[in-house]
Amino acid sequence: MQISQGFVEELKYRNRIDDVISSYVNLKRAGSNKVGLCPFHSEKTPSFTVFSNTETFKCFGCGAGGDVITFIMRAENLDYISALEFLAKKSGLEMPSDGDHKSEIVKRSRMHEMNREAARYFNKMLYEPCAEAARAYLAKRKLSGAAVKRFGMGFAPDNFNALRNYMNAKGYRDEELREAFLCGKSERTGKYFDYFRGRLIFPIIDNFGNVVGFGGRATDDETKPKYLNTSDTPVFKKSRNLFALNFARTACEEYLILCEGYMDVIAVNIAGFPNAVATLGTALTSEQARIMAKYTKKVIISYDSDEAGQAAAKRAIPLLEEAGLEVSVLKMRDAKDPDEYIKKFGAQKFRELLEGSRGKFDFLCDSVLKKHDIENPDEKVKAAHEICALIAEIYSSVERSVYIAKAAEKLSLEAKSLASDVERIRRRKQREESGEKMRKIISDTSGYGDRINREMVGNTKAARAEETILGIIMLKPELFEKVRSGEAPLTAEDFKTTFGRRIFEAMEKMQGKVDIGMLGAEFSVEEIARITDMQHRRAQLAKNDETVLYDSIASLKNEKHVADSGDELADAMKIIQSKKKTVK
Ligand code: GTP
Ligand code: MN
Repeated sequence: MQISQGFVEELKYRNRIDDVISSYVNLKRAGSNKVGLCPFHSEKTPSFTVFSNTETFKCFGCGAGGDVITFIMRAENLDYISALEFLAKKSGLEMPSDGDHKSEIVKRSRMHEMNREAARYFNKMLYEPCAEAARAYLAKRKLSGAAVKRFGMGFAPDNFNALRNYMNAKGYRDEELREAFLCGKSERTGKYFDYFRGRLIFPIIDNFGNVVGFGGRATDDETKPKYLNTSDTPVFKKSRNLFALNFARTACEEYLILCEGYMDVIAVNIAGFPNAVATLGTALTSEQARIMAKYTKKVIISYDSDEAGQAAAKRAIPLLEEAGLEVSVLKMRDAKDPDEYIKKFGAQKFRELLEGSRGKFDFLCDSVLKKHDIENPDEKVKAAHEICALIAEIYSSVERSVYIAKAAEKLSLEAKSLASDVERIRRRKQREESGEKMRKIISDTSGYGDRINREMVGNTKAARAEETILGIIMLKPELFEKVRSGEAPLTAEDFKTTFGRRIFEAMEKMQGKVDIGMLGAEFSVEEIARITDMQHRRAQLAKNDETVLYDSIASLKNEKHVADSGDELADAMKIIQSKKKTVK
């Protein structure tokens, strides 16, 4: 997927990084740079920095970094090509019509059309005789015509070739249908068949109004699996989409209601709350949390009231908080999920439930109290310990004392004794954290635990030389041609780590000028952050001339490559050995 560098340059020229980021982050000038609160993690003091001279950004808190294209990939949750398209559209540029990416774009828009056509077909089928059981099931679940219309629901006939024949007649090939997960292909016979059969269909619609996937529910409660969902395709990533966000995103200024299932979202919507979303048959991801944070400040978790639902709520809380969202949790009694609750008690009661939703602390505290019988002294001590540990996590001391008072009341204990336990836990944690910091410094300098460049361990010296070389080249692209020619030219083979070599090879493909904006197709956003870092680190040093560069090249050429054993224990042993040596 090669895209012309001229195009990327023009795109970046038209989309200056400060301008683009300003519409996401409130930036303030700090010397020659600008700083603001990082949109990618939750923070109270700004560590997100935009560097005007290199047209890059970096967050010193969470490590995100890159150029304007990487920023859009992260902020809009887009892949590289879609991020280019996004910026092109924004600045009135046409995507170039040459190159391999063209077929990629054509393929995507064809997949969107194909999905829309399939959604139309499913919807039409819902009114056919073959859908009688499905219609009866809808009636049983009290899903009106209005609900069917709003969500574009449909029915997939219980037939192996119904959709396939229809789509073939519309000119869509079997292989295309398979790629969109509308058809499967039998490994044994090589035959294609409809993926959704005998199921109610819920189209999944992205923020641009494209149909990107489907959820299909069995029309009874016996069939397994109950739900079938589109797997990831070129236009759909489960972990990056939320059901009904197309409705919710313009209605959630105050808060978003996060449900477990399709049926809950639909029931909640029909009851008059368009600000509801659900994950698509998977646990909440940090990407989804970040997407929500783009549209709202607060999320009310409205998961099922059973143990699984409450456990899932507990896991969702830190992800949502990490994205900077305020979180509260619905306390639902006498119903297993929002759908059932609304059916039993009505929309008004559900509204009251939302208004009375508990903050994170109350929710966690309740789940501790539920676990222990506090009439029993031993159990009461355990509950008190667990609650003190929860309170110890709270940053603000005012909040801590509020919750200590609350907990003292619930446990009928003295606030003073709880408070001293909380302080003890906090002191212990501080000690642990400073030890943790020390260990991190040690492992960073040895390269152990490096998740981006796994070959750092055992090749620390070479890897550092590589980073210096690559950093200087990015800072002074004019030196690139120089080091590649002459008597002992630098080549990809000189690089000892795969990561370093990949970067050098990517640079070789660039037209003389090294541009981070060209890396998106081959490198992950985390890798790009690291590459940007190499440049930053050099930019902060006074000396980045040819001498430094050639010294590093010489040192790299003299280093031997230590093969990555892939065995972390062996790696750890190596570090310990080398530490012992230096201590002596
Ligand atoms: P109803 O049971 O009809 O009320 O639907 P629900 O949406 O409330 O289902 P449930 O609470 O059981 O599950 C919540 C969500 O998990 C569903 O909406 C699906 O996205 C997903 N899910 C449930 N069962 C399955 C399954 O068998 N397979 C897959 N892939 N996902 C499922
Ligand atoms: Mn349910």
